[in-house]
Amino acid sequence: MIHHLRAAGVDLIIDARGTAAPVVVHWGRALGDLDTAALTALADASAPAIAPSSIDHPFRVSVVPLLTEGWTGRPAVEISPHAAALRHIGTGRDGDAVLTMLALGDARIELRYALSPEGVLLVDRRVRNDGPADIEVRALAALLPVPSRAREVLDFTGRWAGEREPQRLRPGHGVWARDTRHGRGGHDDPFLFTVGTPGFGFRHGEVWATHVAWSGDRSVWLERSDLGASVVGAGERLDGHVLAPGETYAAPTVVAVWSDEGLDGLSARLHPWVRSWATPRGPRPVTLNTWEAVYFDHSLERLTPLVEAAARVGAERLVLDDGWFHGRTDDRRALGDWTVDERVWPDGLGPLISRVSEAGLQFGLWVEPEMVSADSDLARAHPDWMLTPADAVSWRWQHVLDLTHPDAWRHVFDSLDALLTQYPIAALKWDHNRDLLVPHSGGQVRALYRLLDALRAAHPDVEIESCASGGARIDLGILRRVDRFWTSDTNDPLARQRIQRWTGILIPPEFLGSHVGDERAHTTGRTASMAFRLATALFLHAGIESDISRLDDAQLDVLARWTEVYRTHRALVHGGTAVRSDDADPALLQHGVVSPDRTEGLFAYVALDRFEAALPSPISLPGLDPLRRYRVRVCDVGAPVRTVQDADPAWLANGVELPGSVLAEGVLTAPLLAPGEALLLHAVAV
Ligand code: DGJ
Repeated sequence: MIHHLRAAGVDLIIDARGTAAPVVVHWGRALGDLDTAALTALADASAPAIAPSSIDHPFRVSVVPLLTEGWTGRPAVEISPHAAALRHIGTGRDGDAVLTMLALGDARIELRYALSPEGVLLVDRRVRNDGPADIEVRALAALLPVPSRAREVLDFTGRWAGEREPQRLRPGHGVWARDTRHGRGGHDDPFLFTVGTPGFGFRHGEVWATHVAWSGDRSVWLERSDLGASVVGAGERLDGHVLAPGETYAAPTVVAVWSDEGLDGLSARLHPWVRSWATPRGPRPVTLNTWEAVYFDHSLERLTPLVEAAARVGAERLVLDDGWFHGRTDDRRALGDWTVDERVWPDGLGPLISRVSEAGLQFGLWVEPEMVSADSDLARAHPDWMLTPADAVSWRWQHVLDLTHPDAWRHVFDSLDALLTQYPIAALKWDHNRDLLVPHSGGQVRALYRLLDALRAAHPDVEIESCASGGARIDLGILRRVDRFWTSDTNDPLARQRIQRWTGILIPPEFLGSHVGDERAHTTGRTASMAFRLATALFLHAGIESDISRLDDAQLDVLARWTEVYRTHRALVHGGTAVRSDDADPALLQHGVVSPDRTEGLFAYVALDRFEAALPSPISLPGLDPLRRYRVRVCDVGAPVRTVQDADPAWLANGVELPGSVLAEGVLTAPLLAPGEALLLHAVAV
C-alpha cells in the first residue's frame, strides 16, 4: 500500500508495497489531488532507471537501505552482528502516523512517521532484540530524500559566548556530515541542519531541515550521490548501544521541516508546533540574574541593595546564581555539595528569599546537578560515583557525576528535592559547564531526562532553565523538560543579535533568555549603548544581569521604562510570528514579530557596524497583512538611540501610515544609526 500524510501544505508519501523495505517517495510540497490511482502512478513513475555499471534492478533508496542491496552511501541503520537481508514485516496506520516494521537478523525495527498539524514531520525509531544473544546498535538514523536542487547546506558552528555561527556550503558528491561528541549539544552544535535551493534566505527559497531532539551526541548529514539521489540523515550518534535479548532501544525523535518560504517558513511551522506542547507557564517574568552582578561575592548585605534595585525597576524574578552552596568560594570546588553554605548564609537562604518576596519578586536558584568537583565532600565520600574519575582530564576544574549510578542519581534527586521542599523556589537555573568526554554518553542523557522528569513531577510549579556554559545545550529533547534556555553567556548585544537571530529559527523567543548587561560587556570587553542593550534583550525572555544597585535614579528610571515596554509587548513578542529580512548590507540586520491576527508588529532595524553606503538601506517590515493599513511609530525603550547625521528622516517624528504591502517592500527611509544601535518600530493596524 502507498501511505500518504498531509498537513499544512506538506506531503509525506511512503511506498510500502511488496516485501522490500518501504521507500519515502516524496517529502515536501503538497502535491494537490492525489487519489490511490495517482499515488500509484507517482510511485511507479518516479522509480529510477538502471544506471550504467550498476546493479541489475532499479535501485530505490529505502528507509533502511543496505549495502548488500546496492546502497553504497552512508548507512542509516547499522546493527551487529550484521545481517545481509531485511524483511518488511508490514506497514500500516498507527493513529495519524505511519508505522513500518522490519526485521534485520534478530533486530526488529520500527519506524514511525507522523505529521503535526503545522506540517512538522516527526520520525521515531526503535529496535528490539528478538534474538537469544546480545546485539549492538551502531546507528538508527532517520533517512529522508531531498531533491537534487537542495544542494546548499546551512548548519551551525560556534564557541563559548559565540554560539550558532551559521556556515553555508555547497558540497559536491559525497557526504557532508556533522558528528558531535560533547555529551551535550556543544557550542558548535549543528542545531538545525538545513539544505535548500541555492541562495535560500529568511524569506525565500525551498528548504528542508532536520533537528535531533536530543541533548547528547548526534549525527546529521547530507549525502549527494552520483546516482542523482540526495538524502538527509539524522539521529543520535551511537558508540555502539548493546541490547540484551528482549531489550529495546528507542532513538530520539528526528524533527524534519520543509518550507518554500525560506527560514522564516521553517519557524512559521516550528514555533506554533513547539508552543503546542512546551509547558505554558504564563507571562515570562523580567528576571534579574546575579552572576555578572556579584559573581561569587554572596552575602545578605551584598545582595539586599540588588533586590531593592530589582524591585525598583520592575523585575519580577531574582535568580541567585553560582556561589551559594557549601564551600563554593570560586569555580574550582564544591560542586555536588548542594546544601546552603552556613558560613555565608548562617540562617540559610530564608532571609534573602524573604526580602525577595517582600519586594514582590519570585526567587530562583542556580544548580549544576550533573557535576562534581574533585574538591567536594561528595567526591571524597563517593569517588565511585564519578563518570570521569578524579585523575581524568578536568574542565573548569570539574568532573561529571555518573547519573546512571542509582545512588548518585538518588543523591542528586534528594538534594534538589530537599531544597525545593524547604524553600519557596519558583525556578532553577540548571547549568552544565563541561563536555562529558566519555564514550556511550547516551545513558547519562537518559538519566538526566529521568531526573528532570522526576523533579518536575514532584514540584510541578518549579520552572527550569537549561544552561550549559551559555547555550551549549539547546535542543527540543530537553525543551520537553525545561521552560527556558540561557541562550549564551555573552550579554554583549552585538554578539547577541547574531546568536539570537539564528537560535530563534528553531526555538520560539519566549523560551530564550536575554539579559541587559553592563555597558562594557564582561565577555568581550566591548561597550554598547543602553538603548542597544535594551532593544536586544526585549525580543526574548528579558532580564537584567548587572549590579544595578550602583545605578543612579535616572538610570534606574530608564530600566523601569524598559520593563514597562517589555510588559506591554510581551504577549505579542512571545506569541507572534517571527520575521527576518535578507539584507544585502552585512552591517544591517532586521527582525521582528507579527501578531497571529496580523493587527500589529514590533520590528528592529539594527546597525551591527557602519553601513556600507553613506545612506543606509530602507527599512522593511515584512509579514504584515498586505491589504491593511498600519500606523508605524518609533517604540521608545527609554534610552536615546544614537544616530550620526544632523537630521533624522521626517516621518520618524510622528510616524507614518501605509499598507502592509508597501511596508514589506522596504520603502521607509532609515536614520543613519551609529554602529551598534537599533531602532524599534511598532506597527498597528488602523
Ligand atoms: C555558566 C553560566 O552560563 C553562567 O551564566 C553562570 O551561571 C556560570 N556558569 C556560573 O558558574
